Amino acid sequence: MKSLTVDLQDHSYPIYIGHGLLGDGDRLKDILPGNQVFLVSNETVSPLYAKTLLESLDPLETAQLNLPDGERFKDLHHWSLILDSLADAGMHRDATVVSLGGGVVSDIAGFAAACYQRGIAHVIYPTTLLAQVDAAIGGKTAINFSGGKNMIGAFHQPLAVISDTTTLRTLDDRQMRAGVAEIIKSALIADDAFFAWLEQHADKVLKRDDEALCHAIEVCCRIKSRIVSADEREKGERALLNLGHSFAHAIEAASDYRYLHGEAVAVGLLLAADLSERLGLAPGDLPRRIRALLEICGLPTGVSGLEAADIARLMNMDKKVSSGKLKLVLLKKAGQAVLIDEFDPALPEAVIREYCD
Ligand code: NAD
Ligand code: GLY
Repeated sequence: MKSLTVDLQDHSYPIYIGHGLLGDGDRLKDILPGNQVFLVSNETVSPLYAKTLLESLDPLETAQLNLPDGERFKDLHHWSLILDSLADAGMHRDATVVSLGGGVVSDIAGFAAACYQRGIAHVIYPTTLLAQVDAAIGGKTAINFSGGKNMIGAFHQPLAVISDTTTLRTLDDRQMRAGVAEIIKSALIADDAFFAWLEQHADKVLKRDDEALCHAIEVCCRIKSRIVSADEREKGERALLNLGHSFAHAIEAASDYRYLHGEAVAVGLLLAADLSERLGLAPGDLPRRIRALLEICGLPTGVSGLEAADIARLMNMDKKVSSGKLKLVLLKKAGQAVLIDEFDPALPEAVIREYCD
């Protein structure tokens, strides 16, 4: 098992990564503030893993809610359903919300934990690769509202993140690839040696080779922990975690969510690298290296059936446009991302056009 700490002074917390951690309730019992646990999962993940987790928590007092599966249920209605269920189950101030699922479950359950009785403890058992390398770490919780993704939420750091890599065996290959896109993103932001490692070993991660998988998850957790520790509330450096995301959010919306988030991020990484190269920021071989890695991973390197103008328009509506100016996270090289707002405003659309067929 690997472990590391997200260093946030009085609300620092551990991340554990390894096999069979779901059945190791003692690890959790040691850190809980009280003896009540409220498990939030969904109808897909719960039948696979909730029993193992709940049995390991005996003799704590437990209650459970399963949400329907899907991003569209990360909404106000299901958030208030969690709050009602917490109250109905008689959960007190020292109860803990335990999330078991992907980023949808941890985002909505985390936001309920942030609000119930002005904030109770939250522990996350992420069960998708994307959640183990990204969504579970850093304390951003949210629900979607009035068509806006993650429009309402709170920073509420968990008490612990416990990533049982065994759970990834039941995750389908498309979701695994989407998680790998976020792994490539982390490497591009902060670690050129890790990017070079992925060029050699990404296929092993996708095949769920244990050593490769645990290594990749650990490195991503270290990168994200370091950035979150330095800038918990996204006043600066944390924005770099959005590399490729302005393009990706626009592609997701323009395609009516036909592309998974990670798939759209893959294309967004390539667009960001291409734009960086055209601006003279990044070396000429960077887009080629990223494309080659995405191809190895079976991730998209362009989009079909979409108009560049629609993607560019949606990007300009993105929440990272401040004072009417689009800010983009771009690359100086593999392992070094920068936030840039000085470029010809027509350039993003021109680059996007080359990736639309
Ligand atoms: P998800 O939670 O929708 O999970 C993807 C699918 O996999 C779902 O159908 C789920 O039921 C299923 N699943 C989960 N674990 C499984 C397992 N072990 N075996 C079989 N099936 C399993 O998607 P995701 O990619 O994990 O998360 C996306 C969400 O995360 C989005 O809502 C996004 O906004 C959010 N997010 C949050 C942050 C953050 O910092 N808070 C960061 C990135 C993404
Ligand atoms: N996923 C971006 C962040 O956590 O800040």
